[in-house]
Amino acid sequence: MTEYPRITDQLDDVESAREAGRRKMEWARQHMPIMAAVRAEFEADQPLAGERIAMAMHVEAKTAILVEALAAGGAEVAVTGCNPLSTHDDVSAALDDVENITSYAKREVDAEEYYAAIEATIAHEPTITVDDGMDLVAAIHEDYPELIEGIVGGCEETTTGVHRLRAMAADGALDYPVFAVNDTPMKRLFDNVHGTGESSLASLAMTTNLSWAGKTVVVAGFGYCGKGVARKAAGQNANVIVTEVEPRRALEAHMEGYDVLPMAEAAAVGDVFLTTTGNRDVVVREHFERMDDGVVLANAGHFDVEIDLDALDDLAVDRYEARDGVEAFEMDDGRRLNVVAEGRLVNLAAPVSLGHPVEVMDQSFGVQAVCVRELLDREHADAYEPGVHDVPDALDREIAEIKLEAEGVDFDSLSETQREYMDSWDHGT
Ligand code: NAI
Repeated sequence: MTEYPRITDQLDDVESAREAGRRKMEWARQHMPIMAAVRAEFEADQPLAGERIAMAMHVEAKTAILVEALAAGGAEVAVTGCNPLSTHDDVSAALDDVENITSYAKREVDAEEYYAAIEATIAHEPTITVDDGMDLVAAIHEDYPELIEGIVGGCEETTTGVHRLRAMAADGALDYPVFAVNDTPMKRLFDNVHGTGESSLASLAMTTNLSWAGKTVVVAGFGYCGKGVARKAAGQNANVIVTEVEPRRALEAHMEGYDVLPMAEAAAVGDVFLTTTGNRDVVVREHFERMDDGVVLANAGHFDVEIDLDALDDLAVDRYEARDGVEAFEMDDGRRLNVVAEGRLVNLAAPVSLGHPVEVMDQSFGVQAVCVRELLDREHADAYEPGVHDVPDALDREIAEIKLEAEGVDFDSLSETQREYMDSWDHGT
């Protein structure tokens, strides 16, 4: 296994970085009541004592609060990034300074360094994995299958990771249980919808310094993320066009009042293109050929394959940095097509990006933390066979209830009669 340096061996001014990272974490911590409650419980009960957790996540302030909570629960945690551009080095350095945490995450790594850092976390011989995109699970199954026997299970944060895991399970190739954290209501109805909507638009606005008002924004994919992006863009007075391949989602977008067009037609009229499909080759050569001068292209899906940058490079007679985080591709007829954050997920990879709002990640990471606890709960030790598992609904409700209490929101509960009525089949007209 390759030796890979921890973050603190890669920075010049480690002390200043740590201090800046600690400040960012403190701000996040103040706005994460769910993680505060989970951490207090973990500190008292030590449910993760003696465990080793490998994590590949976007290493920024909110993630750091999850990592700290897992360490406070008794685990030794080794963490790295899940995207070459999303790490905040200062947060990574601050995390590495916390007892029982080692951080290898560094911003702007090349592919070789990225995978070497993943291997470095695997060298800790994890008993649990926590992934965002499934790169850790893939690396362990492909290159270190001998470790699988010692792995209790894993948790997966995002849609693309869950898709990959389900494909792996369908091939009979997934050899330990993994929770589909992404698929819980507490994650995807908030993180994917509101988080991606708000943070992608905010990152784009900050990076380009352009207004949404009056723009024609083409949103590719009307899933959880696409719905959030479309709704928030419309809320900022943009004219929204949706592209889809799934008939019911196309219809849903139409009934929500958006224009629905094939990308080939949308390409000719859009000002901003934002992909949220989790698929590849969504914006390609034939589309670039129809676009106007000055369009902005960005991706909010997990991997940088939604916009075909090779084709764009082929078409370009020149490419240059138009602004920090924006690269212009100049066509031979003089049109400039501007790509933000190298086509990587824009809400995390642009230089000014901060990822989802803190409150949203408090929910997602609350679910992550209780899923890790669940994997180690001896009472349920045999409940989880290798494969992808839905998160037990009781865990998701537990996180919702903590959040409602923290927000001071009171809500009703079912009476016995109502519960009985809802569970019965013999009450007709
Ligand atoms: P989803 O499955 O709910 O939605 C994806 C939609 O894209 C589906 O409706 C699908 O029919 C559509 N689609 C697929 N191929 C298409 C194509 N060629 N053209 C147009 N539409 C197409 O998935 P969700 O939860 O919205 O996630 C989408 C992506 O965003 C995933 O890669 C996920 O991992 C990522 N994600 C990113 C976040 C971020 O912070 N930027 C946060 C959460 C998820």
